[in-house]
Amino acid sequence: IGQDSIELLGHSYPRDDFTNITPKILAKVGFHLQNQPYHPLWLIKERIKAHFYSSYVGRWGNPLFSVHDNLSPVVTVEQNFDSLLIPPDHPCRKRGDNYYLNRTTMLRAHTSAHQRELVRSGLDAFLLAGDVYRRDEINASHYPVFHQMEGVRLFSDLQLFSRVRGGDELSLFERGGRRTGQKQESHSLEAVKLVEFDLKATLTRLVTHLFGPDVEVRWVDCCFPFTHPSFEMEVRFQGDWMEVLGCGVMEQELLLSAGAGNKLGWAFGLGLERLAMILYSIPDIRLFWSRDERFLKQFRVDDIQTPICFQPFSKYPPFHNDISFWLPDAADRFTENDFYDLVRSVGGDLVEKVSLVDDFTDPSCEHRMSGEGKRKLLSERRTGSRGIRIRSRGSFLRQLAAAAAAAVCL
Ligand code: PHE
Repeated sequence: IGQDSIELLGHSYPRDDFTNITPKILAKVGFHLQNQPYHPLWLIKERIKAHFYSSYVGRWGNPLFSVHDNLSPVVTVEQNFDSLLIPPDHPCRKRGDNYYLNRTTMLRAHTSAHQRELVRSGLDAFLLAGDVYRRDEINASHYPVFHQMEGVRLFSDLQLFSRVRGGDELSLFERGGRRTGQKQESHSLEAVKLVEFDLKATLTRLVTHLFGPDVEVRWVDCCFPFTHPSFEMEVRFQGDWMEVLGCGVMEQELLLSAGAGNKLGWAFGLGLERLAMILYSIPDIRLFWSRDERFLKQFRVDDIQTPICFQPFSKYPPFHNDISFWLPDAADRFTENDFYDLVRSVGGDLVEKVSLVDDFTDPSCEHRMSGEGKRKLLSERRTGSRGIRIRSRGSFLRQLAAAAAAAVCL
């Protein structure tokens, strides 16, 4: 143990020539932000769960989709890539883009890494939320750790065609078919179209639930090794089209290898940070890692559906600033609240708190001052014999504001 291996979540992984995980990233593993009550990522996850629970119920009123949010982000390279039919030479496997513990183990780069195992365990409909890791630049919208929600739904021929008149004459598969832009070789076009319709309708209902009935959605064709056809969903937000998820009809070979070759399925994977940033007006992806109460407290709502608009605060830490000054001779005309109002009017909401911490009287001035004493006081620019010390709490900006206020006052 020690230098030759990496300790993570109670396991030890031997290093090799592929190892590229850094201590900074290791320190990010295990937070489960999606499971921390009232964290914005948890809020989004809960809202998506609530939507799926109430909209899709089984024959006995049971939720159709099961939810999994506790799967370890440490996966095999086989799970992350091979199980999803990603070929050995595919560029997305690059060391430069992923965090490898060693040649066989990595931090998952997407929640799709669990599709096969969950289908193999017998599930027909599930949601899966978790942290994913990609080597990337760090800026306002990119961070090497983010969170995804995966959704999968499978259909037997009965489930798919029972909704269609004359559906009992249709079949999921066709022999000797060709792969086209619209479908895989083994699928019948009618089955694929129904699955694709259900996928798009499901996701449109989801974003309508999240963003409200006026949301505009568009579908962009794209390409994933584990779905065909594949799409990206874009949502129009403040005039821009934003990509929020990838999805498609699952590759039949994947379902076959998971023991569900007699069914068709769709899958989607959406970025939780992306959704939360749009929904709650969170300007910087790094804020999701903040433990600052000024961030976290804004998301503690009684009802998870409450609209929240994040109010930015300074990225500088809070700052205490003490100001002492002498009061004018007519000190009885001064009240503390005069000063507080002055600070508020100059500093506004940037000032968190202003309080009186001390009040003192110059003992040498307690009795009438001699001329000598008076001159000394004037040279100190002291205008009275009673002084107070005020403490303001805020960030760098607030400190400036408080100082400005004090300057005005003095
Ligand atoms: N895993 C894909 C990604 O991270 C998203 C995806 C999930 C696409 C499921 C299709 C189906 O980009």
